[in-house]
Amino acid sequence: MTRPDDWHLHLRDGAMLNAIAPESARDFGRAIIMPNLLPPIVTSTQALSYKKRIMAALPDGSNFKPLMTLYLNEKTDKNDLSRAHASGLVIAAKLYPAGATTNSDGGVKDFHKLQPILEHMAEIGMPMCVHGEVTDLDVDIFDREAVFIDRILDPMRCRVPDLKVVMEHITTEEGAEYAKSAPGKLAATITTHHLIINRNHILSGGLRPHYYCLPVAKRETHRLALLKAATSGSECYFLGTDSAPHTDALKENACGCAGIFSATNTVSCLAEIFEAAGALDQLENFTSLSGPKFYGLAPNVDKIHLTKGAPITFPEFIKTHLGPVTVFDPGIDLHWQVSN
Ligand code: DOR
Ligand code: ZN
Repeated sequence: MTRPDDWHLHLRDGAMLNAIAPESARDFGRAIIMPNLLPPIVTSTQALSYKKRIMAALPDGSNFKPLMTLYLNEKTDKNDLSRAHASGLVIAAKLYPAGATTNSDGGVKDFHKLQPILEHMAEIGMPMCVHGEVTDLDVDIFDREAVFIDRILDPMRCRVPDLKVVMEHITTEEGAEYAKSAPGKLAATITTHHLIINRNHILSGGLRPHYYCLPVAKRETHRLALLKAATSGSECYFLGTDSAPHTDALKENACGCAGIFSATNTVSCLAEIFEAAGALDQLENFTSLSGPKFYGLAPNVDKIHLTKGAPITFPEFIKTHLGPVTVFDPGIDLHWQVSN
């Protein structure tokens, strides 16, 4: 099938970047790189130098292409945004509500202040990727996505109807429903892990930090709604792994970091669950066709091959100079081997 792309990826920087970039470059053609570094990537100059560091971390001969994003804030420079978009360096801008997740302290507090920037993005056809969770402490963590759609996202889209929006890593039936309400203008990424785990995986029989991410996995009915959406063939849904490495020391911690690292085995995991859902024929739409269509890009020209055989053993963790990073354990046998 057509080589997949990852429309939502965390590559980090420095020693972590160097260790984990090859994991994504192995199976994926392109990836949208999240800007939540410390400090965040807010200008095109920062994006360009980060892109160079990513390219330097790739194995020799790799054709992997990082698609850069800028971290939106109330002070984002519209001209810098346009130039970066027109040059092809930056594909989208990411909206993090302040405090919603890892390194989002510099995110947006007053969404109304973004109005001129969002209008400008709509004019130049630059999509906004959004982490769709409210951060209000009085809203239950399992309701934060649904509340965000009602209170923030829908009113925002009514104020700027031409803005293209990607709801990142949706985790609920409400998210999947809303994402299909404006094809071509609105879409959603779905992660590999949210198609496989529900909240029991995190909390039942012991606390399992390697299944903790944000937005947190919800109850099984929501997982089933996501699986239905991903396997439907609809162009409103495409893969964004949200593969987000943290060292084991930071995960297995009294205050563990949010993030699941799945770059290493994602394609194999997806083939397994699409097959189990009787929808292997929809895998290519989800991983390789619907994403480029939304972003106005051509699909990759090269192919990967998936071959079914005896269960495959993936590494339990990736070694980095900062310590090991555990690879997502789907809890099922994986039979699909990816090759070029
Ligand atoms: O689980 C997550 N980890 N969710 C995010 O939104 C951010 C990510 C990270 O950067 O670690
Ligand atoms: Zn993310």
